[in-house]
Amino acid sequence: MLRLRTSLLFALVVALSGIRPGEPYFYNGIKSGLEADLKHSLFLDRVGQCRWQHDLPIFLSDMRIAQQNNTHYVISGVLRVRRNITDATTGTVSIEICQNATQCRPFIDRPVAIGDVCQFLAEKRPSSLGEVLGHSVPPLRCPLTKGVYRINDALVDYKPFRYFSPNVSKLWRIDLVAESGQKRVFCVRIELYVYSWEDMLPRY
Ligand SMILES: *[C@@H]1O[C@H](CO)[C@@H](O)[C@H](O)[C@H]1NC(C)=O
Ligand SMILES: *[C@@H]1O[C@H](CO)[C@@H](O)[C@H](O)[C@H]1NC(C)=O
Ligand SMILES: *[C@@H]1O[C@H](CO)[C@@H](O)[C@H](O)[C@H]1NC(C)=O
Ligand SMILES: *[C@@H]1O[C@H](CO)[C@@H](O)[C@H](O)[C@H]1NC(C)=O
Repeated sequence: MLRLRTSLLFALVVALSGIRPGEPYFYNGIKSGLEADLKHSLFLDRVGQCRWQHDLPIFLSDMRIAQQNNTHYVISGVLRVRRNITDATTGTVSIEICQNATQCRPFIDRPVAIGDVCQFLAEKRPSSLGEVLGHSVPPLRCPLTKGVYRINDALVDYKPFRYFSPNVSKLWRIDLVAESGQKRVFCVRIELYVYSWEDMLPRY
């Protein structure tokens, strides 16, 4: 909970130094929240392999997450594809809200299908996931061949996270899962915190 403590400390500094919290100033974490209301602060905590699923054919070690500025993170990592993946591969996304590191429940009833992963990679649609995967060296292409793929300095902004409201939960998990030949080949978990600056300020 070092980050949380850092944030609280910062809130204190804000309170002491007279910076008004209404001002768009984000020391750590980036802005999030719906377009009209960028008051939430997003802490992208972890992007990496789902726990207990380290043996899947595709492995993403914990990515390095660095804050670029108020609106962007820069993320880098290494994706290991341990065997050629030749069968059709489909993806799903699921979202959970958590009370703490262990108590989570689904936010959406069942995982949302995102369809054919190869089509997604080929279309290069402008999306955050597309942006991240598009930074791979060598490029990620289907059929996915065994090898090491480096993702260097992909920029991710607040936009995919703007619907994650701290009013619903402060701790969220997003699981990206891919299946090929009815077997799970990929599972990446994104863990994030959202806070409203007002909530974090000490009240007297
Ligand atoms: C933050 O950094 C990104 C990437 O360098 C840039 O596109 C964006 O304009 C910057 N935003 C602000 C508010 O400086
Ligand atoms: C994996 O695919 C590559 C490229 O198509 C091929 O050269 C290699 O022999 C394949 N490996 C296996 C184990 O099938
Ligand atoms: C998480 O919250 C649940 C329910 O509030 C509690 O029983 C459990 O001990 C908590 N776990 C941790 C690791 O704090
Ligand atoms: C979230 O809660 C705050 C304070 O309780 C409230 O002002 C705000 O309107 C709520 N936002 C949404 C999107 O419900």
